[in-house]
Amino acid sequence: MQAQIKKIGVLTSGGDAPGMNAAIRAVVRSCAYHQVACAGIFRGYQGLIENDIEDLDARSVRNIISRGGTFLKSARCSEFMTKEGRKIAFDNLKNAGIDALIIIGGDGTFTGGLVFESEFNFPVIGIPATIDNDISGTDFTIGYDTALNTVVEAIDKIRDTASSHNRLFLVEVMGRDAGAIALNSGIGAGAEEILIPEESDGIERLLESLRKSRKSGKTSSIIVIAEGDKSGKNIFEMAEIIQENLSNYDIRVSVLGHIQRGGSPSCFDRVLASKLGVGAVDAVLDGKHNIMVGIHHQKVVSVALELAIKGEDKFDRDLRRVADITSV
Ligand code: F6P
Repeated sequence: MQAQIKKIGVLTSGGDAPGMNAAIRAVVRSCAYHQVACAGIFRGYQGLIENDIEDLDARSVRNIISRGGTFLKSARCSEFMTKEGRKIAFDNLKNAGIDALIIIGGDGTFTGGLVFESEFNFPVIGIPATIDNDISGTDFTIGYDTALNTVVEAIDKIRDTASSHNRLFLVEVMGRDAGAIALNSGIGAGAEEILIPEESDGIERLLESLRKSRKSGKTSSIIVIAEGDKSGKNIFEMAEIIQENLSNYDIRVSVLGHIQRGGSPSCFDRVLASKLGVGAVDAVLDGKHNIMVGIHHQKVVSVALELAIKGEDKFDRDLRRVADITSV
């Protein structure tokens, strides 16, 4: 153990994700286990700049493992993007006696942490939590599994109406830059077509596929569209284009929105969050810094924060083939 680590700070930042509470709980209890003090920073980097910091002990995190969202609250903070903002944050950490910071969030959170660490040489450890599963170096991010299940459950319900009325439903799911939610939920819910930001096949291909599917005897269809799809049309414009070209379709649009981020975390996300929370405190006490703890082949691994943000493309091309084959 590093003798100089007496207190660890923890915060959640960016979009909330189910399982963030379980990760905070694991961090706080791991600190208690190792007899290191722990402080919770409320509202992410914004709260750090505003000195919204409270000491936490093992009992502070009771009854939160099953709750969605984050009891520390979260924010997207533009002030932390300025050097002045980060200096205030550093002073507040020092005044609170915090020796290392565990940041729970996605790529925006990690980008902030990386800059902060390089400016102040202050140990920062990331825990990946975002429903998008778009962080490299980890097989899964906290919240992704829960969100996928939420989306599949919602599309299953939409399918009941689609098939009862012989309708075509366009369903928009989250994912500004990553199609993981769309591709996996689309396969899981038996979508006919899946549009994702990593590919741009154009609307013509979609129209062709819909023409074929009517001919093949399909009476209703679901198309799953990631919000960051690159067709250049929003989902309502797309519905209009399809209607203009294929007048025999009765079309409806459904935007799932933030229901995808809420709700009680799945058991998978709770266990993942617990492993990564414990792993993050282990990493701090082992003197590691500037890393993210991720999961690979079910084991906790350390990955440079820089690689986590800018790393390899996670788009699974084999899954696209599975989607194409199973939707004929
Ligand atoms: O990054 C997670 C995410 O849910 C994205 O999928 C989505 O594009 C974005 O956050 C929405 O952010 P906000 O809640 O700030 O509108």
